[in-house]
Amino acid sequence: MAGGSDRKRSAASAFGAHADAYRDSTVHREGDDLDRLAAWCSGADRAVDVATGAGHTAGALAAAGVDRVIAADAAPEMVATAAASFPRVEGVVADAERLPFADDAVDAAACRIAAHHFPDPVAFVAAVARVVKPGGTFAFEDNVAPEDPALDEFLNTVERRRDPTHVRSHTVADWIGWLEDAGFTVETTTVVTKTLDYTEWLGNVDASAERRRGVAAAFADPPTGAAEAFSITRGADGVESFANMKLLARATR
Ligand SMILES: C[S@@+](CC[C@H](N)C(=O)[O-])C[C@H]1O[C@@H](n2cnc3c(N)ncnc32)[C@H](O)[C@@H]1O
Repeated sequence: MAGGSDRKRSAASAFGAHADAYRDSTVHREGDDLDRLAAWCSGADRAVDVATGAGHTAGALAAAGVDRVIAADAAPEMVATAAASFPRVEGVVADAERLPFADDAVDAAACRIAAHHFPDPVAFVAAVARVVKPGGTFAFEDNVAPEDPALDEFLNTVERRRDPTHVRSHTVADWIGWLEDAGFTVETTTVVTKTLDYTEWLGNVDASAERRRGVAAAFADPPTGAAEAFSITRGADGVESFANMKLLARATR
């Protein structure tokens, strides 16, 4: 894998080891966001779901009427799980930044809650723009950071301490700029805020005691404005919940 290859290999192997957990995870299996991305792609004959994980978005695209769905992921175990779990979904092991498809190969592409793991988001958006036909759709979703640099740094620090495969949550403005620079017209953007239970959020990645201490240390010394921006709630034992933001964007090539 080119471009940050050690980092990408270690992310793929970390994810590959948890393919079954991703297949069974409620967060990944359902949600209004999943329905919305699938609806945006529903008119396509052929679509690719980039960084498919256990294939829930690929499966939702197939269920929404897309004839042929390619589930692409850097982790071979995820690809195998996705292809085995959903009808009319075929799997391809692929780096999101170097998609192994011909130009204009698909009518639609989706990528749900994965791009914060990619070292080069500009290369990723360019790769998607290359494989989507003119007039085709890109249905995109990822975690985003606030515009304020100190709050952005805080969010990305806690995310990286919790999960070393986290590269960066970017801002809404970054994503819109990269999409437009790659030739997409951004038709719709929505930012949804979700409250995360702190203990569950750490448990989802099986964070070690050392990683938990690192996250707690960051939450113990937040920058000005973090409590309000992330709606941090605290109890006797420390942080109980906080809010994270996700961008959903529909773009046309
Ligand atoms: C949180 S999961 C994705 C969830 C999935 N899209 C869904 O809707 O359920 C993140 C996925 O990104 C994949 N991934 C990380 N870096 C990648 C890269 N550079 N290229 C392709 N896949 C990558 C991981 O292997 C993992 O399966």
